[in-house]
Amino acid sequence: MYDFKGKTALITGAARGIGRAIALELARGGASLAINDVNESAAQEAIQLALQAGSPKAQFYPFNVADSAACDAGVEKVVADFGGLHILVNNAGISIDNLLLRFKDEDWKKVLDINLTGAFYLTRAAARPLMKAKTGAVVNIASVVGEMGNGGQAAYSASKGALIALTKTVARELASRNVRVNAVAPGFIDTPMTQSLPEAAKTKMFEAIPLARLGTPQDIADCVAWLSSDKASYVTGAVIRVNGGMYM
Ligand code: NAI
Repeated sequence: MYDFKGKTALITGAARGIGRAIALELARGGASLAINDVNESAAQEAIQLALQAGSPKAQFYPFNVADSAACDAGVEKVVADFGGLHILVNNAGISIDNLLLRFKDEDWKKVLDINLTGAFYLTRAAARPLMKAKTGAVVNIASVVGEMGNGGQAAYSASKGALIALTKTVARELASRNVRVNAVAPGFIDTPMTQSLPEAAKTKMFEAIPLARLGTPQDIADCVAWLSSDKASYVTGAVIRVNGGMYM
């Protein structure tokens, strides 16, 4: 367990799945939590669990990460409510899949707006308070397909590949202010997002995992907690693969 006492973390898409597991892991270390999502009922459930897990304060911030002004206002409100911001986890993400020739413009835009542009808006909005924190940390949730590609996932894999490039660039820009910026690239994780994939796609991916099991949200949360903590104080610009060996 890590010590996040006195620290505030803003986690996007934290109502369920991987984001919720990250919130609960940081809560166990005593972090105060700003839970962002667009799903109010699941977010309220996550808040109750976070308080039970040890977070001294957890509040809901219902904004769409693809909305620039909402991201600015959201970060401003978190800083006003908690007195600062130390950790930002850009986790909110969606996947709309189709073969290239059938891919619709609006689906491409939607995926890029949430997965990539949302992370850009929030990191830009949070940069000043994170610099003020002196030990600020940003963790971006990318994906194995951002590095290896995946048929049928043009927009999703492009968004995650670009998120990795954004991670490295911002890591360079903010390093002198001791803000560390890293990415976690999960493999195939058992969440509502992957449960909705067609059976054939699931079987194919499962066969490609050397550790022969799906990942759990907790596998990702453990890595994010480490990257967010002072135990990773010399790690920036890294892309940590948590994928059971699916891509090496
Ligand atoms: P999920 O669908 O279970 O959870 C995503 C959360 O983000 C939901 O609570 C949703 O309401 C929220 N969200 C969606 N659009 C939003 C928006 N515009 N603004 C604010 N919140 C929004 O997904 P999961 O599986 O937990 O994924 C979390 C992250 O991990 C995503 O970025 C995903 O791309 C990434 N990832 C997931 C993998 C998996 O196998 N499940 C593999 C690799 C990466």
